[in-house]
Formats: sequence, structure tokens, C-alpha cells
Amino acid sequence: MDVDEGMPSHSMYYLGLLASLGWELTSKQRMEAPYDVWDRLAKAPLPGGCCESSLDASRVEEVVHVLCEAYRRPEWDEQRREEERRSWTKTMDPEVLGTTVAVERQGRIIGVCLRGVSSLGPGIVEMAVLPEEHRRGVGRYLLYRAMESGRTANVQGKPYRLSVDRDNLGAIALYAAMGYRRSQVLTVARWVKDRP
Ligand SMILES: CC(C)(COP(=O)(O)OP(=O)(O)OC[C@H]1O[C@@H](n2cnc3c(N)ncnc32)[C@H](O)[C@@H]1OP(=O)(O)O)[C@@H](O)C(=O)NCCC(=O)NCCS
Repeated sequence: MDVDEGMPSHSMYYLGLLASLGWELTSKQRMEAPYDVWDRLAKAPLPGGCCESSLDASRVEEVVHVLCEAYRRPEWDEQRREEERRSWTKTMDPEVLGTTVAVERQGRIIGVCLRGVSSLGPGIVEMAVLPEEHRRGVGRYLLYRAMESGRTANVQGKPYRLSVDRDNLGAIALYAAMGYRRSQVLTVARWVKDRP
């Protein structure tokens, strides 16, 4: 459930209520970049020693591993990590895999970007790079390539869209460097079954 913080009374009511009922709340922001931003971006080079992966069902486990490692929180126990692994595995159906950009080094996938498209325009759904590969240009390359492949005739002229945790300053810096600007602040409330 999304609570728009542009409406303070609405958000105070729902967020207080949902928190007291044990929902997990995450502060997010939506960001947008104009469709023509891509024409002005400098081409992001593929980092040294890397190549783009060709994805099929045999590589789902590797893709899921990158997503799990990149999003892992230190406080998560084994059960929570397993829940995340299962949930990412379910996400990676053939359609999603077909629109995912991945980068590998020495035959091992180290970064992925899942893109999507809606009637509102092209979107970036997830970006994940293995922690030991951060700050080597993998994320920038993935984003550039995902934006490039998202440029299809049916979304022409519509802005690129994504959402990101408000405390994820590294990702926000990357998106800002690629022309994205904040368009909305919101809180996402998630009910996780059987959570103590
Ligand atoms: C966000 C993420 C994908 C970035 O990947 P990355 O490969 O480290 O990013 P890059 O090396 O291409 O960084 C490109 C630019 O983004 C900015 N940037 C990236 N990470 C940053 C950080 N931690 N702090 C500040 N700026 C950062 C910098 O401007 C950087 O350029 P520079 O290294 O020349 O200064 C990666 O940190 C990640 O997987 N994080 C965990 C998952 C996540 O948060 N995904 C995004 C969810 S919306």
C-alpha cells in the first residue's frame, strides 16, 4: 500500500494506524527523468573485464543471488533471507528475465537491472550490484543500458520513472547523475505474513 506524503493528514492517519498493526513501513521517493535525457547522457562504458550477460532460465539462481546480496540487511535472520530468496525467484519469470540487463565478470553475474514499462512510461524496477563490485561503474552502465533498451515506440516522449528508499543516498546520487529528479515522496506499507 502506498501512502502519499503530499497529503499530510492522510499519511499521519494511515501511517500511525499501519505501524501500530505491525506493518513494515519504508520511506520512498519517486524519481523521473525526461524521455530525451538519454540523448544528452554520455555513454557509460562497460567496466574493465566485464561483459553483458545473455540471460535464460539457467541463470535465474545467479540473478537472484545478486539481488539477495545487494539488498540484504544485517539484521535479517536466516528465515528472512530465505523469504527474500523465494520472493526474488518468483519475480524472475521468463518475461522479467527477458527485460533484465546483466553484467558479468569471469562468467559470474555481478550486477542486474530489471526494467519495466507501464502506460506512464518506461521504468527501472530494480538495480543491484554485488557489494564487492560497488563503485566500479557497473550500476551506471546497467542503468544506461536499461534506459536505452526501454526506448520503444509506444512510450516515446514519456518520462523514465523509478522509486528508491529515501535513505539510499548512493542510489539517489547515481540516479541524479543520470538526470532523474524527485517527483513524489511516499511511504510504502507492507504486511509480511507470520512476522513476529
Ligand atoms: C545503487 C547501486 C546499484 C550502484 O551500483 P554501483 O555499481 O556501485 O554504481 P556505480 O559505480 O556505477 O556509481 C556511479 C555513480 O553513482 C554515484 N554513487 C554510486 N554509489 C554511491 C555511494 N554509495 N555513495 C555516493 N555516490 C554513489 C556516484 O556518483 C558514482 O560515480 P563515482 O563512483 O564516479 O563517484 C549499488 O550500490 C547497489 O546495488 N546497492 C544496493 C541495492 C540498491 O540500493 N539498489 C537500488 C534500489 S532503487
